[in-house]
Amino acid sequence: LPVVILISGRGSNLQAILDQAAGGTLPIEIRAVISNVPGAYGLERARQAGIETQVLSHKGFADREAYDRALIELIDGYAPGLVVLAGFMRILTPAFVRHYARRLLNIHPSLLPRHRGLNTHARALEEGDAEHGASVHLVTEELDGGPVLIQARVPVHPGDDPDTLAARVLEQEHRLYPEAIRWFAAGRIDFDDEQVHLDGRPL
Ligand code: GRF
Repeated sequence: LPVVILISGRGSNLQAILDQAAGGTLPIEIRAVISNVPGAYGLERARQAGIETQVLSHKGFADREAYDRALIELIDGYAPGLVVLAGFMRILTPAFVRHYARRLLNIHPSLLPRHRGLNTHARALEEGDAEHGASVHLVTEELDGGPVLIQARVPVHPGDDPDTLAARVLEQEHRLYPEAIRWFAAGRIDFDDEQVHLDGRPL
């Protein structure tokens, strides 16, 4: 499965995917890692793994539509069967999402549909959640609203701050994302409307 991965920062989820792909447990061909942020550390991780990198800064584009058109052109040069958002910190336009319909995945650090958007760990703490977690979902036009493929739960501990909680969630993200991509690569995932099926059963 040819894959393009989009990042904006640290790239620890990218690293988990790179490691499994290199280790032979994830049958994908990562054709490129693309960042909208020039100095993103994830670019370094990709280079270390011998993966082609590209930077397409959003600065200098007139609007979101123009940037996303350029991004589509760049991505499509690699003809991916799957586009993976791994800490890509931009809201994508409906045109972009439609272009990659059913082949665009994202990881979000909460138990969706709870805590869509940013600052999920602080919000989970503020609201006194007993549990928190992460979700891999198909991207649709609704922000963080697409159907969920897989989730992991973690307990919230007394004394947690957003960083300790984030670290506990991140460990799960690194397990979840390769797993969801593995299902996708094996052709075990299909979609009808807003429902995801794994091996023909609704998820
Ligand atoms: C992760 O928490 C991910 O869920 C969120 O952004 C963070 C990216 O971390 N979308 P990293 O760049 O993969 O280390």
